[in-house]
Amino acid sequence: MVKRIRDWLEVRIGLDELIRQNLTEYRVPKHINLFHALGAVAVVGYVIQVITGICLLIYYIPHADHAFRSVQDIMTKVPYGWLFRQMHVVGSNLLITAVLLHMVTIFLMGNYKRPRELTWVSGGMLLIITLGFGLSGYLLPWTQLSYWATTVVTSIPTAFPVVGDFFTRLLRGGNYVTGITLTRFFAVHVSILPPLFVLFIALHIALIRRIGLSATPFGKSDEEKRPLTEYRKKTHPHGHPYYPYLFQRQVLMGIMYFIVMFAIVTFAPTFFFPEEATVPADAFQTPENIRPEWYLLAPYQMLKLIPNKFLGILMQIILLAVFIFWPFLDTHKEKNILKRPILRGVFIVIMISLVILMWWGRR
Ligand code: HEM
Repeated sequence: MVKRIRDWLEVRIGLDELIRQNLTEYRVPKHINLFHALGAVAVVGYVIQVITGICLLIYYIPHADHAFRSVQDIMTKVPYGWLFRQMHVVGSNLLITAVLLHMVTIFLMGNYKRPRELTWVSGGMLLIITLGFGLSGYLLPWTQLSYWATTVVTSIPTAFPVVGDFFTRLLRGGNYVTGITLTRFFAVHVSILPPLFVLFIALHIALIRRIGLSATPFGKSDEEKRPLTEYRKKTHPHGHPYYPYLFQRQVLMGIMYFIVMFAIVTFAPTFFFPEEATVPADAFQTPENIRPEWYLLAPYQMLKLIPNKFLGILMQIILLAVFIFWPFLDTHKEKNILKRPILRGVFIVIMISLVILMWWGRR
């Protein structure tokens, strides 16, 4: 029976050929490490978000009068609703962590360098989309925490002259965060960001497949010194077949992702649910300590510290552009960061500053 189905598929879609091309004959570098599996962990993280998100959608009501109640019902009345919600909330935080780790390791290995500039740019877009998912999803439970964090974040553009107010009103659907904002954020979360994500992940993976994975392990220089004037695929003839070699490592990292997720859900279920996250939104009662999600704390704190708000936002836009187009700015041939003391120093200073800003922003 299995053979008949296989033969049927073989005639129609060339199954054996597909498996050969994409799994066993697709070769990855000899010196691959577990960090090369972080991109796949992000893919696993996204799949979990989509599945749990669809389950939540069945019961969630995107209306200011019902959103809070519907989420409470998911937690207390819907069979396993609490589990899907916990997985979605914990998963969103873990996903952002995985994407950031993937990005930092790519940076440290110098794997953004030519001809992978566009792979980096598409990755940068994926990071922005991932943060967009986090930001838009945060408002949906319509709690004090989500209401006021969204009020704070959506007020940021107002510091920008001429277009700032317009942009804030566009995000909020008025002067304040209201039920209209909820509808807008819901639309962004479930129907605008998903197709954008599919577009950029398809581009990201198509580019990786076309160019081939880079071979640089930490602390080694890349062997490719020839000028790049024509298309050359890195085929790694002496490397390992993707299946089972890298695939096994990706599965291992995927399992670790699940272990961390279930450890948080089991042993620290309130970790992402502080007290304000259990109280319904109230536009007339401002909580004492309003702050955005952890992944926006550093830019938020930076804005608070710069007295001229316009300059602060301008600086952040410039920093974002530098980050997205970094491979075009860093044209140094050396991939190995250990041999680039200035870049290494700048990286360490940026990391320490981000940690300090986050810690400061939390207080
Ligand atoms: C949702 C987010 C993302 C997903 C699902 C994703 C997925 C992947 C996958 C599956 C790979 C191949 C295996 C690997 O090296 O891990 C990869 C490689 C790569 N990613 Fe991402 N990625 C994401 C975000 C990013 C970000 C934010 C950046 C940087 C700004 C980035 C830059 C790259 C680059 C340059 C490579 C090529 C590495 C090489 O050739 O060795 N990605 N990504």
